[in-house]
Amino acid sequence: MKSKVIATMNHMMPSKLMPSKWGGRGSTIPLLRIATDPLLRIATDPRAWVFAGAAAAAGGRALGRWLTRFELRGRTVLITGGTRGLGLELARQAGSAGARVAICGRDADTLARARESLSQMGAAVLATTCDVTDRNQVAELIRFVQAGFGHIDVLINNAGMVEVGPVEAMTAVDFERDMATNFWGPLNAILAVLPHMRSRGEGRIVNIASIGGKLSVPHLLPYSSSKFALVGLSEGLRAELRASGILVTTVCPGLMRTGSPRHATFKGRHDAEYTWFNLADNFPLLSMDVERAARRILRAVRHGNSHVVLSLPAKVADKVHGLFPGLTSDALGLANRLLPSTESREHGVEGQHCRPVVSVPWLGARSDRVATQHNQTN
Ligand SMILES: NC(=O)c1ccc[n+]([C@@H]2O[C@H](COP(=O)([O-])OP(=O)(O)OC[C@H]3O[C@@H](n4cnc5c(N)ncnc54)[C@H](OP(=O)(O)O)[C@@H]3O)[C@@H](O)[C@H]2O)c1
Repeated sequence: MKSKVIATMNHMMPSKLMPSKWGGRGSTIPLLRIATDPLLRIATDPRAWVFAGAAAAAGGRALGRWLTRFELRGRTVLITGGTRGLGLELARQAGSAGARVAICGRDADTLARARESLSQMGAAVLATTCDVTDRNQVAELIRFVQAGFGHIDVLINNAGMVEVGPVEAMTAVDFERDMATNFWGPLNAILAVLPHMRSRGEGRIVNIASIGGKLSVPHLLPYSSSKFALVGLSEGLRAELRASGILVTTVCPGLMRTGSPRHATFKGRHDAEYTWFNLADNFPLLSMDVERAARRILRAVRHGNSHVVLSLPAKVADKVHGLFPGLTSDALGLANRLLPSTESREHGVEGQHCRPVVSVPWLGARSDRVATQHNQTN
């Protein structure tokens, strides 16, 4: 019925006005046809739309980056846990870029070595002990940095801890400890700097979470739970603060070679737990150079990016888990069968006091080198 009506209408149109492809005799004005035909062909070609869409997206992104660009030179960057590992590398690179850096940690000797190495590079540095789980100490830290440097432009919530072991080895206290450091620590610092950043109408907040905050990993449950909480806080905060000129970046690294297994806590069959964790942490295809990780994070600060997932395995895990969460959880269930089981809930042991049950000499040498470079030896 419909096709009959269309056929009738076509029949009623004077053929001189109809382009030949519409069924006329090709007697439209030739010049107009020459001009409109290629345009029409392009406009109706889906590849042209894909190309135009991609070009518009790239242009929009470049414009957005240019509008939100933020140089580190002359800025004050506060890095919690900037005394070793990733935090110290961030401090070194921010200092090299001309920023004034403030760092904190709990251990005074590690802090003193970090301050010394930053000063030797020529960076303007403030360093003080602070336990980020304590709200009063964090408020004192913010006052100290403001008194020394005027104001804080960038807060990097990097201080973190990890406890490794099966859920049977964990108690509620282990979960509370991870939450206190990995979730409440960043929140304490955010709530303390926010009024100042708001009054200045500008600032950057970076929350170093983990791929474990997007995909829960067996034998890391207290850690993963606390990093999931941090990711939720960080993403919601970005949405709320966007209009006030404060940009929040959520960073989810996969494994990085920071030398941190020495300071991680291992529960259950701690030597066996330390072995798999330390091997994974130093294995080239699984883990990433901390120098590269820090460069990517500071680039995200400059551009005000919302999310950064670091390392190829972490990116793949993130995408696959987003599409097939059941599949990845079941796959991790299979991996869990290979991990050491336990019935013991005894106290955790720090990595530097564990004995690897398998030793791979070249990985061991690399792990020692990384630990020395990143101030992990005490
Ligand atoms: N290494 C990885 O493979 C990896 C992967 C994903 C995510 N991450 C995350 O990246 C961040 C840095 O990791 P990393 O490997 O560099 O760790 P790290 O080497 O163990 O360094 C942790 C830093 O945080 C400080 N810190 C810990 N608890 C603190 C507290 N309560 N108050 C103040 N400072 C505290 C430590 O100093 P003190 O002990 O002296 O206080 C140290 O400076 C962490 O948030 C971690 O969860 C690491």
